[in-house]
Amino acid sequence: MITLIWLAILVLVIIQYMRKVYSRFDDAGVSHFKPAPVVGNAGMQVTGKRHVSQDFDILYQTFSNDRFIGRYEMMRPTVILRDLELIKKVAIKDFEYFIDHRAVVDDTVDPLFGRNLFSLKGQEWKEMRSTLSPAFTSSKMRGMVPFMIDVNKQMIGVLKKKIQTSENNYVDIECKDVTTRYANDVIASCAFGVKVDSHTDEDNEFYTKGRSTANFGFRRILVFLGYASFPKLMKKLNISLFSNETTQFFKNLVLSTMKEREDRNIFRPDMIHLLMEAKKGKLTYDEKTTDKADTGFATVEESDIGKKTVNRVWSDTDLVAQATLFFVAGFETISSAMSFILHELAVNPDIQEKLYAEIMENEANTNGKFDYNSIQNLTYLDCVISEALRLWPPAVGLDRMCVRDYNMGRANEKSKKDFIIRKGEGIVVPVYSIHHDPEYFPEPYKFDPDRFSEENKHNIKPMTYIPFRSWA
Ligand code: HEM
Repeated sequence: MITLIWLAILVLVIIQYMRKVYSRFDDAGVSHFKPAPVVGNAGMQVTGKRHVSQDFDILYQTFSNDRFIGRYEMMRPTVILRDLELIKKVAIKDFEYFIDHRAVVDDTVDPLFGRNLFSLKGQEWKEMRSTLSPAFTSSKMRGMVPFMIDVNKQMIGVLKKKIQTSENNYVDIECKDVTTRYANDVIASCAFGVKVDSHTDEDNEFYTKGRSTANFGFRRILVFLGYASFPKLMKKLNISLFSNETTQFFKNLVLSTMKEREDRNIFRPDMIHLLMEAKKGKLTYDEKTTDKADTGFATVEESDIGKKTVNRVWSDTDLVAQATLFFVAGFETISSAMSFILHELAVNPDIQEKLYAEIMENEANTNGKFDYNSIQNLTYLDCVISEALRLWPPAVGLDRMCVRDYNMGRANEKSKKDFIIRKGEGIVVPVYSIHHDPEYFPEPYKFDPDRFSEENKHNIKPMTYIPFRSWA
């Protein structure tokens, strides 16, 4: 009997708690869908029935007159921003209120993810950002282009050989597989100083370990949502994103490469070298030109935060965490962007022809020399890439966490009072939905690189094209 009474009390307490959590948006009249117990509005995402970008898009389109909308990510209230002025305010002027990403993992359980630039918070993030951003300037990228060309030649060689040895002089390829292997080999070379050929040696250790690190499948989504809703419990249960084996693999790889370079005085202008420089405090932001001057539309200019000089000593774990982040951040983004570009070129032969003509003309003008400088002449290629990143943005949403209570104003015309977002609550900018809003991009589902041409690009409103949006 006593057990039953306790059980009833426990159930009542849980119901009351959920009621409280799920009433968060009601008082201030923030539009949202009715949440289900525990999963909130993330049920379709958790069960894998809908991609999170579709969830955002349904909200975005249903509440088309609202400035912002509510969504319960399991037990965590999250605000989806719609209004461009509000996005600008939150991302730039009032960025200090939203400086951190939402917690993904615990850094004591998962140092490889918990200590990377994505997870670091506040001042530590600023310092790591300033430490690393010199590595992404065009002068440093210039030094890495030859490695990318080497990997490219390797891939073309393998594909040509497959065609030559085929029965009918052609091969069917899975584009996502080819671009994934290409992205893998580029990052192996540029970020880890390792040469691999994943097109020939299909199951090499770097590829299999990297894939398992970057693959954000069902289990990882649950871990993310779990940390979002029950961080203390997840930490207690010692639930991590990466296996111990993977963590150890990357740690050994980065540290042994660094040691070898130091011992044998080897110089290779890649990310490992830049991390070694960062460790010694020798890496500084040296860009004379602005980032946009010699790159194209599909780039983002570094903020002032990244241009500051810092004198801070980072631990080995911190450096390994950044190298691993280059993998996690680059592997899926590059491979999916490239495979969508290939798809669009296949289904739009006129665009493919135009791009081919530009590349051949450039080849003739530069006597076949392909390098960082000659790429800058390929303005139509820049339009094609920009449009692919609009139509198929690899990062479908940008997230941040509120670090100090903040007044977001009224959610819509019917709201009776302002909504104060509380410390610890999250916001999301729905990139995919904004990129597909017909108000900003007429015929949004049409692949039209000319939107980004010299004559047309002034039509693109600020904050509506945000595939890389870096805040602040
Ligand atoms: C098409 C390719 C890519 C896209 C669309 C993309 C997009 C993004 C986006 C949207 C963010 C979040 C920005 C924010 O919330 O402030 C981000 C962050 C980041 N990306 Fe990429 N990315 C791409 C490729 C890469 C590559 C190749 C690397 C490195 C090798 C990389 C390294 C990073 C890092 C280090 C951050 C964290 C920046 C910070 O928190 O300060 N990304 N990226």
